[in-house]
Amino acid sequence: PEPMLRDRFGRLGRDLRVSVTDRCNLRCTYCMPAEGLDWLPKPEMLTDEELLRLVRVMVGLGVTNVRLTGGEPILRRSLVDVVRGIAALTPRPRIAMTSNGIGLHRLAAPLAEAGLDRVNVSLDTVDPQRFRELTRRDRFEDVEAGLKAAVDAGLTPVKVNAVAMRGVNDDGVADLLQWCLDRGYALRFIEQMPLDAQHAWDRAAMVSQAEILDRLGERFRLTPVQERGSAPAELFLVDGGPETVGVIASVSAPFCAACDRVRLTADGQLRNCLFSRSEVDLRGPMREGASDDELVALVVGEMWAKKAGHGIDGPGFVQPDRPMSAIGG
Ligand code: GTP
Ligand code: 5AD
Ligand code: SF4
Repeated sequence: PEPMLRDRFGRLGRDLRVSVTDRCNLRCTYCMPAEGLDWLPKPEMLTDEELLRLVRVMVGLGVTNVRLTGGEPILRRSLVDVVRGIAALTPRPRIAMTSNGIGLHRLAAPLAEAGLDRVNVSLDTVDPQRFRELTRRDRFEDVEAGLKAAVDAGLTPVKVNAVAMRGVNDDGVADLLQWCLDRGYALRFIEQMPLDAQHAWDRAAMVSQAEILDRLGERFRLTPVQERGSAPAELFLVDGGPETVGVIASVSAPFCAACDRVRLTADGQLRNCLFSRSEVDLRGPMREGASDDELVALVVGEMWAKKAGHGIDGPGFVQPDRPMSAIGG
């Protein structure tokens, strides 16, 4: 299909991130409070049929990549069916998932069989005790097993995402890299963004790309790789390669100018940016009988309204109401 998801800055929406649930089975301290959040009530969530219809409409508008996110996507019971449904669309989009890895041990093979192409797993530390403190759950071994199963199921390249945090895991970045190199996972560090439910993000405390590279440089020789395109991570060869490590410097070096993303929340709201302060409701119109053409008009209008960038470091930045866990990152 002809790409129709254009914004006024000439960017094309090619990459749809679909949050399939806002629930999570971890309680990472930088993401949500120990008691969890007010999860979306079931009737507000898109059914599989509704979700697949919206993905089909988006594919018709030129989306070529679909990423399933959460919360934790594996908590959606119908996840395998959702993947199968997306894989049956024409043209078939590439399908990826971002998961915390828990339950992947069991689901990697069925997901791959249903059409999932690859997976990114979030893991901020490889010290089981620290993992327990950071996530408030003692499940490091589940994640380890999930990562292994993902490779065995061919969900490759398996990427690991780690948010770098001062006084929490910043002294462990080189250990984490060595651990990933030993196992064949492609590690990417992420600068922390102001998207936590607690609104506790502090720019001054954020561990920057420069700091992460300094730390890694104490143990590894890093050389920049060219060719980034619309990928969020800047890649570096480790000790001459072929392995790489990435840094997603969303705050200190935003990639908004090359952004090709658009997001759908589990309750059927379309977001043109991770940081957008407004959303367009697709669920309501759909339940009231909107035609595909009417949905297309809503989607196209929302894309046109996309801002140039998040402006985190600019004046007047306001964090979105919806926390990271309900957007899907
Ligand atoms: P790949 O296709 O494997 O590169 O996936 P990805 O990096 O786009 O997705 P993933 O879900 O693994 O995201 C990794 C980190 O990048 C998370 O912290 C995301 O929140 C962040 N990220 C993803 N998309 C965007 C975006 O559009 N803007 C910003 N600022 N950060 C993003
Ligand atoms: N800033 C950056 N990344 C975050 N993630 C969660 N919260 C934040 C934040 N505030 C990461 C998760 C996961 C990915 C989807 O986003 O750890 O790797
Ligand atoms: Fe795109 Fe918004 Fe992310 Fe920037 S912050 S890369 S514009 S989604």
